Amino acid sequence: MREKFIEELFLLGEGQRVRIAGWVHRRRELGGVVFIILRDSTGVVQVVFKRDLLGEEQMSLARKLTIESSLIVEGIVHRDERAPGGMELHATNLQVFNLAEDFPLKKDTSKEVLFDYRHLHLRSRKVQALLKIRGTFIRSLLDWYDDHGFTRVEAPTFVQAAVEGGATLFKLDYFGRDAYLTQSSQFYLEALIFAFDNVYTMQPSFRAEKSRTRRHLTEFWHFEAEMAWATLEDMMNVVEDSLKQACERTYDECGRELDLIGRKFEPPSGRFPRISYDEAVEISKEKGVDIRWGEDLSTEAERAISLEFDEPIFVTRYPKATRAFYHKVDPEDNRKVLCADLLAPEGIGEIVGGGQRIDSLDELVKRIQEENLNPRDYYWYLDLRRYGSVPHSGFGLGVDRTVWWISGTETVRDVIPFPRTPTRLKP
Ligand code: 4AD
Ligand code: MG
Repeated sequence: MREKFIEELFLLGEGQRVRIAGWVHRRRELGGVVFIILRDSTGVVQVVFKRDLLGEEQMSLARKLTIESSLIVEGIVHRDERAPGGMELHATNLQVFNLAEDFPLKKDTSKEVLFDYRHLHLRSRKVQALLKIRGTFIRSLLDWYDDHGFTRVEAPTFVQAAVEGGATLFKLDYFGRDAYLTQSSQFYLEALIFAFDNVYTMQPSFRAEKSRTRRHLTEFWHFEAEMAWATLEDMMNVVEDSLKQACERTYDECGRELDLIGRKFEPPSGRFPRISYDEAVEISKEKGVDIRWGEDLSTEAERAISLEFDEPIFVTRYPKATRAFYHKVDPEDNRKVLCADLLAPEGIGEIVGGGQRIDSLDELVKRIQEENLNPRDYYWYLDLRRYGSVPHSGFGLGVDRTVWWISGTETVRDVIPFPRTPTRLKP
């Protein structure tokens, strides 16, 4: 129905005729002339409605236009320095598709109400820019894996056992039996490496975390990769290389969007520092964070550490008790496991968690029992250690958290179209 998108108009010459379609972003009337800022997915343009070009009937229609009304307009390109972008369209024909009701979102609408109206707020240029950045990041990340011999796979959402511990499982009724929403596709990916060596997936994971923090969602988008014949070091190298490329491409392709949201993002270029958990505890203590060796790094500790570095940093080899049962014990220190978290800078904290998996059947059974889990629930996971077990490693990257870091918004909720938190289930 349209001939051109708005961004294409700026390439047209004076006097050219064109038909575009979009929504009323702003409107004002001055001396009988109606000025509309019209928006589509590609940008905005000023459209000028004057009686001499439109006639009285269409002019009265133009006067009635409200914010977010949808319309098709034909007009003549007119170069004018005073117009935004140096160009405006002089309307010759107006077709209103929907005259919008009074738009509920105003300049002073509170953040919570904006989330109640997320279905409408998505149209704001800021949210649009954030979601464009998100989409670009995801595509760039997946491209890296497609280009490096990984096979894309999928895992189920309904599961019967925990991956990351029972506390954050969402339980549901599955035809009279207990089932859960998946916390991670990791175990399924571990099964798939025996067919494909290197695999990845990107799908939602679910966590029943009551905490209402800036970085938690109950449903988040989880990019996970798993690699056969790979050590913890190999895993960290893959995370580093892929994340760097994805950040760089996002930066290159989303300059306009980053400008629009006022974000000065520097894609990481140097090597990601790698520090041990022990060093991380020392840094946290120096920065005045209350932490004892043996505890997981708190949000405050991660924040303190990540403020010390300009690049994302790996923290490696955490105490066994802080990690789920499947982690392989560090051969150099059996109090620790072969794991690594990647902390994003600027106080963001963990965006990636991963490590090397236990590959011995006996050790895995022992760890499952130590955690008071039922080995029968994990029969198929144990089978992977029975039939051609291999050293293997993998990780999970929080897509929302990573995009949150790239775009520098207030909370992780800002960068997902329809966030789910303990208190938000709609729209
Ligand atoms: O560190 P997590 O819990 O690790 C796992 O689930 C592993 N099984 C992944 C694997 O090795 N395949 O989660 C991985 C990442 C975190 O680093 C974080 O970025 C993100 O998932 N994440 C969340 N993002 C938003 N809201 C939440 N509630 C999140 N929980 C985890
Ligand atoms: Mg983690």
